[in-house]
Amino acid sequence: MLEHCEQLLKTLIGLDIEAIGRSALERALRERLEALQLGQAAYGALLEGSAAEQQALVEAIVVPETWFFRYPEAFALLAERARALRAQRGALQPVRILSLPCSTGEEPYSIAMCLLDAGFSAVELRVDAVDVSLRALDAAATARYGANAFRSADLGFRERYFRADGSSHVLCDAVRGVVNFRPGNLLDASFALGAAGYDFVFCRNLLIYFDRATQMQALARLERWLAPEGLLFVGPAEAGMIRQQGLPALERAQSFAFARRAAAMAPASAPVPAWPVARPAVAAGPTPRAVAPPRRAFAPAMATPSVPAADPAAQTGLAQIERLADSGRTAEALAACARHLQSFGPSAALFYWWGLLCDGERRVADAEGYYRKALYLEPRHPEALAHLAALLAARGDQSGARRLQQRLKPEGGRHAGP
Ligand SMILES: C[S@@+](CC[C@H](N)C(=O)[O-])C[C@H]1O[C@@H](n2cnc3c(N)ncnc32)[C@H](O)[C@@H]1O
Repeated sequence: MLEHCEQLLKTLIGLDIEAIGRSALERALRERLEALQLGQAAYGALLEGSAAEQQALVEAIVVPETWFFRYPEAFALLAERARALRAQRGALQPVRILSLPCSTGEEPYSIAMCLLDAGFSAVELRVDAVDVSLRALDAAATARYGANAFRSADLGFRERYFRADGSSHVLCDAVRGVVNFRPGNLLDASFALGAAGYDFVFCRNLLIYFDRATQMQALARLERWLAPEGLLFVGPAEAGMIRQQGLPALERAQSFAFARRAAAMAPASAPVPAWPVARPAVAAGPTPRAVAPPRRAFAPAMATPSVPAADPAAQTGLAQIERLADSGRTAEALAACARHLQSFGPSAALFYWWGLLCDGERRVADAEGYYRKALYLEPRHPEALAHLAALLAARGDQSGARRLQQRLKPEGGRHAGP
């Protein structure tokens, strides 16, 4: 039965169960059997012929983990790039953005708030938001959010765009009106999004759940939806793979933004990209990023290095690991982690990177172990907390994830966010 469900979920939404662990599937299946009061055999028969039950299983397994202004550097880049586009082509042509997967709406609403803050009016924007989970889309439509959606240090946006209602916050209509939600499956060949390309596509924290072949298939679709000069934003654990596929990365630390391959191959007469892009990893090796780049993206907390600042060799070693990871040279980055441990001993920053690398390889148990080591050394390491919480949530340990998220909150001291 488990194998059958595993296969079905792979076919339906591309889920590679290795990415979240079999226990997550066991939990989802248990949930469905209990809800329907059915045994495995009867459930198998139902599942076979019922699209509604297939959707229910999808709802039980998907990971809706998200929050407002997740990876803030991406939003800073979005605002800059959108302004440049408007200057180039005028305000009549709206800036088009796709958020897929949008989950419960925090990402597309963040996009809308970011661009409203950047001086755009609603008519100058078109934000399309897509997710395979109808439950998540329902939540997005109500636009009512609890504390978990607000994990950032700067909550100014909440003051500007939400009203408090009991323990929740409700988003204002001005932002809600900018975002068009619709159900859709990235891997469904019949799912279409219209002809005109998007200037920005956010596909963050979805490819991580696919196997390599499915990632390639998904990436090809995403690129087709991008305008020639468009940008693709992915999650940190996905960036290495995207680089490996030859998409040029924007030289903006922690934005995880990429240009289209076609744009990289454009003739010399094509317009010069507004941002410098790193050469594709497959062709060019390590990117020319500065040694030990400032880690502003996740949180002010990152300004506090986990490795003693006084040890420049250790910092250089970490920067090397980051460069290798960013270039998609995962095996070399992992080897560099082991060498770093031998040379400089344990540090939260090292274990965080080690965890992230394992995460990208979908070695979930190893990733978890390294994130935990990072947190042992630095209990409020923001990225380790966020990534470990996401891992726990993915395998159904919601209370474990919530405990970690508590630590990310402003009242918890140091925290992640913009
Ligand atoms: C971890 S959330 C990511 C949300 C947001 N992009 C972020 O990074 O915060 C993953 C979302 O992917 C959705 N999803 C899973 N498979 C999908 C598919 N094949 N097509 C579209 N959405 C999918 C899930 O329903 C879930 O809401």
